Amino acid sequence: MTDHILIERPAAHPGVLVLRFNRPDKKNAITRPMYLALTQALQEANRDETIRAIALLGTPGAFSAGNDMADFLAFATTGEMGKEVFDFLMTVVAVEKPLVSGVDGLAIGIGTTINLHCDLSLATPRSLFKTPFTDLALVPEAASTLLGPMIMGHQRAFAMFAAGEGFTAEEARAAGLIWKVVPEETLEEATLATAASLAAKPPQAMKIARDLLRKSRDGVAARIEEEARHFSAQIRSAEAMAAFQQFMARKK
Ligand code: COA
Repeated sequence: MTDHILIERPAAHPGVLVLRFNRPDKKNAITRPMYLALTQALQEANRDETIRAIALLGTPGAFSAGNDMADFLAFATTGEMGKEVFDFLMTVVAVEKPLVSGVDGLAIGIGTTINLHCDLSLATPRSLFKTPFTDLALVPEAASTLLGPMIMGHQRAFAMFAAGEGFTAEEARAAGLIWKVVPEETLEEATLATAASLAAKPPQAMKIARDLLRKSRDGVAARIEEEARHFSAQIRSAEAMAAFQQFMARKK
Protein backbone atom coordinates (compact mmCIF):
# COMPACT_ATOMS: atom_id res chain seq x y z
CA MET A 1 0.00 0.00 0.00
CA THR A 2 0.97 3.66 -0.26
CA ASP A 3 0.66 6.57 2.14
CA HIS A 4 0.47 8.90 -0.85
CA ILE A 5 -3.28 8.36 -0.84
CA LEU A 6 -4.95 9.11 2.48
CA ILE A 7 -8.27 7.42 3.11
CA GLU A 8 -10.36 9.00 5.85
CA ARG A 9 -13.87 8.77 7.34
CA PRO A 10 -14.20 12.14 9.11
CA ALA A 11 -16.48 11.86 12.15
CA ALA A 12 -17.72 15.41 11.58
CA HIS A 13 -19.02 14.43 8.12
CA PRO A 14 -20.96 11.19 8.49
CA GLY A 15 -21.31 9.00 5.43
CA VAL A 16 -18.40 10.66 3.62
CA LEU A 17 -15.31 8.85 2.41
CA VAL A 18 -12.37 11.18 1.80
CA LEU A 19 -9.67 10.22 -0.67
CA ARG A 20 -6.76 12.61 -0.59
CA PHE A 21 -3.77 12.92 -2.91
CA ASN A 22 -0.93 13.21 -0.41
CA ARG A 23 2.37 13.49 -2.25
CA PRO A 24 2.92 17.22 -1.93
CA ASP A 25 6.67 17.14 -2.64
CA LYS A 26 5.78 15.94 -6.16
CA LYS A 27 2.70 18.15 -6.48
CA ASN A 28 0.58 15.04 -5.96
CA ALA A 29 1.66 13.40 -9.21
CA ILE A 30 -0.06 10.02 -9.31
CA THR A 31 1.99 6.81 -9.36
CA ARG A 32 0.85 3.28 -10.13
CA PRO A 33 0.47 2.33 -6.42
CA MET A 34 -1.60 5.50 -5.92
CA TYR A 35 -4.00 4.55 -8.74
CA LEU A 36 -4.28 1.08 -7.26
CA ALA A 37 -5.07 2.46 -3.80
CA LEU A 38 -7.73 4.75 -5.27
CA THR A 39 -9.27 1.90 -7.27
CA GLN A 40 -9.49 -0.35 -4.24
CA ALA A 41 -10.98 2.40 -2.09
CA LEU A 42 -13.62 3.23 -4.70
CA GLN A 43 -14.55 -0.43 -5.14
CA GLU A 44 -14.88 -0.77 -1.37
CA ALA A 45 -17.03 2.39 -1.30
CA ASN A 46 -19.46 0.76 -3.72
CA ARG A 47 -19.80 -2.23 -1.37
CA ASP A 48 -20.02 -0.27 1.90
CA GLU A 49 -23.57 0.96 2.53
CA THR A 50 -22.37 3.36 5.22
CA ILE A 51 -20.45 5.33 2.59
CA ARG A 52 -22.90 7.61 0.84
CA ALA A 53 -20.65 10.18 -0.81
CA ILE A 54 -17.00 10.41 -1.77
CA ALA A 55 -14.82 13.53 -1.55
CA LEU A 56 -11.61 13.86 -3.54
CA LEU A 57 -9.05 16.33 -2.20
CA GLY A 58 -5.40 17.27 -2.63
CA THR A 59 -3.01 19.32 -0.52
CA PRO A 60 -2.59 23.11 -0.33
CA GLY A 61 -1.69 24.43 -3.79
CA ALA A 62 -1.81 21.07 -5.52
CA PHE A 63 -4.81 18.95 -6.35
CA SER A 64 -2.69 16.81 -8.67
CA ALA A 65 0.07 17.35 -11.25
CA GLY A 66 -1.29 14.38 -13.16
CA ASN A 67 0.29 11.08 -14.00
CA ASP A 68 3.78 10.58 -12.60
CA MET A 69 6.24 11.46 -15.37
CA ALA A 70 8.74 8.83 -14.24
CA ASP A 71 6.03 6.21 -14.73
CA PHE A 72 5.34 7.62 -18.21
CA LEU A 73 9.04 7.39 -19.01
CA ALA A 74 9.15 3.81 -17.70
CA PHE A 75 6.16 2.86 -19.89
CA ALA A 76 7.83 4.47 -22.88
CA THR A 77 11.11 2.67 -22.16
CA THR A 78 9.77 -0.82 -21.49
CA GLY A 79 6.84 -0.59 -23.89
CA GLU A 80 4.68 -2.04 -21.13
CA MET A 81 1.74 0.09 -20.13
CA GLY A 82 0.57 -0.78 -16.61
CA LYS A 83 -3.13 -1.46 -16.12
CA GLU A 84 -3.49 0.71 -13.01
CA VAL A 85 -4.60 3.89 -14.78
CA PHE A 86 -7.08 2.09 -17.00
CA ASP A 87 -8.52 0.12 -14.08
CA PHE A 88 -8.82 3.33 -12.07
CA LEU A 89 -10.72 5.11 -14.85
CA MET A 90 -13.08 2.17 -15.34
CA THR A 91 -13.68 2.05 -11.59
CA VAL A 92 -14.46 5.77 -11.52
CA VAL A 93 -17.06 5.20 -14.24
CA ALA A 94 -18.60 2.44 -12.13
CA VAL A 95 -18.73 4.47 -8.90
CA GLU A 96 -22.24 4.37 -7.49
CA LYS A 97 -21.99 7.13 -4.89
CA PRO A 98 -21.92 10.89 -5.52
CA LEU A 99 -18.38 12.07 -6.20
CA VAL A 100 -17.35 15.55 -5.04
CA SER A 101 -13.96 17.13 -5.69
CA GLY A 102 -12.23 20.05 -3.99
CA VAL A 103 -9.46 21.52 -6.15
CA ASP A 104 -6.87 23.95 -4.83
CA GLY A 105 -4.04 24.91 -7.15
CA LEU A 106 -2.59 22.63 -9.80
CA ALA A 107 -5.00 20.33 -11.61
CA ILE A 108 -2.94 18.93 -14.47
CA GLY A 109 -3.75 16.06 -16.82
CA ILE A 110 -5.90 13.56 -14.97
CA GLY A 111 -6.07 16.18 -12.18
CA THR A 112 -8.31 18.05 -14.60
CA THR A 113 -10.08 15.20 -16.39
CA ILE A 114 -11.15 13.48 -13.16
CA ASN A 115 -13.48 16.42 -12.59
CA LEU A 116 -15.44 15.41 -15.69
CA HIS A 117 -16.48 12.36 -13.66
CA CYS A 118 -17.36 14.23 -10.49
CA ASP A 119 -20.94 15.22 -9.70
CA LEU A 120 -19.95 18.45 -7.97
CA SER A 121 -16.53 20.09 -8.11
CA LEU A 122 -15.35 23.07 -6.09
CA ALA A 123 -12.16 25.00 -6.81
CA THR A 124 -10.20 27.92 -5.39
CA PRO A 125 -9.46 31.05 -7.45
CA ARG A 126 -5.75 30.13 -7.72
CA SER A 127 -6.51 26.78 -9.35
CA LEU A 128 -5.17 25.98 -12.81
CA PHE A 129 -6.80 23.38 -15.03
CA LYS A 130 -4.50 22.24 -17.81
CA THR A 131 -3.98 19.09 -19.86
CA PRO A 132 -0.71 19.11 -21.81
CA PHE A 133 -1.49 15.78 -23.51
CA THR A 134 -0.46 16.71 -27.03
CA ASP A 135 2.60 18.62 -25.77
CA LEU A 136 3.72 15.28 -24.33
CA ALA A 137 2.85 13.60 -27.65
CA LEU A 138 -0.02 11.84 -25.88
CA VAL A 139 -3.77 11.93 -26.46
CA PRO A 140 -6.59 13.00 -24.13
CA GLU A 141 -7.85 10.34 -21.72
CA ALA A 142 -10.62 9.63 -19.18
CA ALA A 143 -13.25 10.03 -21.93
CA SER A 144 -12.43 13.72 -22.05
CA THR A 145 -12.86 13.56 -25.84
CA LEU A 146 -16.50 12.61 -25.24
CA LEU A 147 -17.40 14.37 -21.99
CA GLY A 148 -15.37 17.49 -22.81
CA PRO A 149 -17.40 18.56 -25.88
CA MET A 150 -20.62 17.36 -24.19
CA ILE A 151 -20.05 19.56 -21.16
CA MET A 152 -18.04 22.49 -22.56
CA GLY A 153 -18.79 22.60 -26.28
CA HIS A 154 -16.25 21.82 -28.98
CA GLN A 155 -14.18 25.01 -28.87
CA ARG A 156 -13.50 25.07 -25.16
CA ALA A 157 -12.95 21.31 -25.10
CA PHE A 158 -10.52 21.62 -27.99
CA ALA A 159 -8.70 24.50 -26.29
CA MET A 160 -8.38 22.49 -23.09
CA PHE A 161 -7.80 18.92 -24.25
CA ALA A 162 -6.11 19.31 -27.65
CA ALA A 163 -4.42 22.74 -27.48
CA GLY A 164 -3.40 22.32 -23.83
CA GLU A 165 -4.57 25.81 -22.88
CA GLY A 166 -4.71 26.45 -19.15
CA PHE A 167 -8.09 27.42 -17.65
CA THR A 168 -8.49 29.48 -14.52
CA ALA A 169 -11.01 28.34 -11.93
CA GLU A 170 -13.46 30.95 -13.17
CA GLU A 171 -13.00 29.83 -16.80
CA ALA A 172 -13.46 26.21 -15.74
CA ARG A 173 -16.63 27.17 -13.90
CA ALA A 174 -17.97 29.11 -16.89
CA ALA A 175 -17.20 26.09 -19.07
CA GLY A 176 -19.18 23.78 -16.77
CA LEU A 177 -16.18 21.72 -15.68
CA ILE A 178 -16.64 22.79 -12.07
CA TRP A 179 -19.60 23.87 -10.01
CA LYS A 180 -18.33 26.60 -7.69
CA VAL A 181 -15.31 28.77 -6.98
CA VAL A 182 -14.70 29.17 -3.25
CA PRO A 183 -11.95 30.88 -1.24
CA GLU A 184 -8.88 28.84 -0.30
CA GLU A 185 -9.67 29.06 3.42
CA THR A 186 -13.07 27.45 2.96
CA LEU A 187 -12.40 24.88 0.22
CA GLU A 188 -11.82 21.92 2.50
CA GLU A 189 -14.86 22.53 4.68
CA ALA A 190 -17.08 23.45 1.73
CA THR A 191 -16.10 20.27 -0.12
CA LEU A 192 -16.72 18.06 2.91
CA ALA A 193 -19.97 19.83 3.77
CA THR A 194 -21.15 19.39 0.17
CA ALA A 195 -20.36 15.68 0.28
CA ALA A 196 -22.00 15.36 3.71
CA SER A 197 -25.17 17.05 2.52
CA LEU A 198 -25.43 14.54 -0.33
CA ALA A 199 -24.66 11.70 2.09
CA ALA A 200 -27.51 12.81 4.35
CA LYS A 201 -30.16 12.51 1.63
CA PRO A 202 -32.26 9.37 1.20
CA PRO A 203 -29.73 7.06 -0.50
CA GLN A 204 -32.16 5.26 -2.81
CA ALA A 205 -33.55 8.50 -4.22
CA MET A 206 -30.04 9.94 -4.56
CA LYS A 207 -28.86 6.87 -6.44
CA ILE A 208 -31.78 6.95 -8.87
CA ALA A 209 -31.38 10.70 -9.46
CA ARG A 210 -27.66 10.32 -10.05
CA ASP A 211 -28.10 7.33 -12.38
CA LEU A 212 -30.72 9.21 -14.44
CA LEU A 213 -28.55 12.32 -14.66
CA ARG A 214 -25.62 10.25 -15.86
CA LYS A 215 -27.55 8.26 -18.47
CA SER A 216 -26.19 10.36 -21.31
CA ARG A 217 -22.74 9.02 -20.37
CA ASP A 218 -23.41 5.52 -21.64
CA GLY A 219 -20.55 5.59 -24.16
CA VAL A 220 -17.97 6.67 -21.61
CA ALA A 221 -16.37 3.28 -20.92
CA ALA A 222 -16.05 2.54 -24.66
CA ARG A 223 -14.44 5.94 -25.25
CA ILE A 224 -11.95 5.36 -22.42
CA GLU A 225 -10.96 2.11 -24.14
CA GLU A 226 -10.65 3.80 -27.53
CA GLU A 227 -8.53 6.63 -26.10
CA ALA A 228 -6.39 4.09 -24.20
CA ARG A 229 -5.53 2.25 -27.44
CA HIS A 230 -4.19 5.48 -28.96
CA PHE A 231 -2.57 6.49 -25.67
CA SER A 232 -0.62 3.27 -25.35
CA ALA A 233 0.54 3.50 -28.99
CA GLN A 234 1.59 7.13 -28.60
CA ILE A 235 3.43 6.55 -25.34
CA ARG A 236 5.78 4.23 -27.23
CA SER A 237 6.50 6.90 -29.85
CA ALA A 238 9.83 8.68 -30.24
CA GLU A 239 8.11 12.06 -29.82
CA ALA A 240 6.66 11.02 -26.45
CA MET A 241 10.00 9.64 -25.26
CA ALA A 242 11.64 12.96 -26.15
CA ALA A 243 8.97 14.91 -24.23
CA PHE A 244 9.31 12.77 -21.08
CA GLN A 245 13.11 12.97 -21.17
CA GLN A 246 12.90 16.71 -21.56
CA PHE A 247 10.74 16.96 -18.43
CA MET A 248 13.03 14.70 -16.40
CA ALA A 249 16.13 16.65 -17.49
CA ARG A 250 14.70 20.16 -17.19
CA LYS A 251 16.36 21.01 -13.87
CA LYS A 252 19.74 19.53 -14.67
N1 COA B 1 5.37 13.54 -12.32
C1 COA B 1 6.44 13.41 -11.53
N2 COA B 1 6.95 14.42 -10.80
C2 COA B 1 6.33 15.61 -10.90
C3 COA B 1 5.21 15.81 -11.71
C4 COA B 1 4.72 14.71 -12.45
N3 COA B 1 3.64 14.81 -13.22
N4 COA B 1 4.82 17.11 -11.60
C5 COA B 1 5.67 17.67 -10.74
N5 COA B 1 6.58 16.77 -10.32
C6 COA B 1 7.67 16.97 -9.39
C7 COA B 1 8.82 17.74 -10.00
O1 COA B 1 9.65 16.88 -10.75
C8 COA B 1 9.48 18.31 -8.79
O2 COA B 1 10.24 17.30 -8.19
P1 COA B 1 11.74 17.64 -7.64
O3 COA B 1 11.53 18.72 -6.60
O4 COA B 1 12.21 16.35 -7.09
O5 COA B 1 12.50 18.13 -8.84
C9 COA B 1 8.31 18.60 -7.86
O6 COA B 1 7.24 17.78 -8.32
C10 COA B 1 7.86 20.03 -7.91
O7 COA B 1 7.59 20.35 -9.27
P2 COA B 1 8.16 21.67 -9.96
O8 COA B 1 8.16 21.44 -11.43
O9 COA B 1 9.44 22.06 -9.32
O10 COA B 1 7.04 22.73 -9.54
P3 COA B 1 6.49 23.95 -10.39
O11 COA B 1 5.51 24.61 -9.49
O12 COA B 1 7.61 24.72 -10.99
O13 COA B 1 5.70 23.27 -11.62
C11 COA B 1 4.13 21.81 -12.67
C12 COA B 1 4.61 22.44 -11.37
C13 COA B 1 3.03 20.82 -12.31
C14 COA B 1 3.60 22.88 -13.62
C15 COA B 1 5.32 21.08 -13.35
O14 COA B 1 5.97 20.28 -12.37
C16 COA B 1 4.88 20.18 -14.46
O15 COA B 1 4.69 20.64 -15.58
N6 COA B 1 4.71 18.88 -14.17
C17 COA B 1 4.32 17.93 -15.17
C18 COA B 1 2.83 17.91 -15.30
C19 COA B 1 2.40 16.95 -16.40
O16 COA B 1 2.72 17.14 -17.53
N7 COA B 1 1.66 15.89 -16.00
C20 COA B 1 1.21 14.88 -16.90
C21 COA B 1 -0.04 15.34 -17.56
S1 COA B 1 -0.63 14.19 -18.76
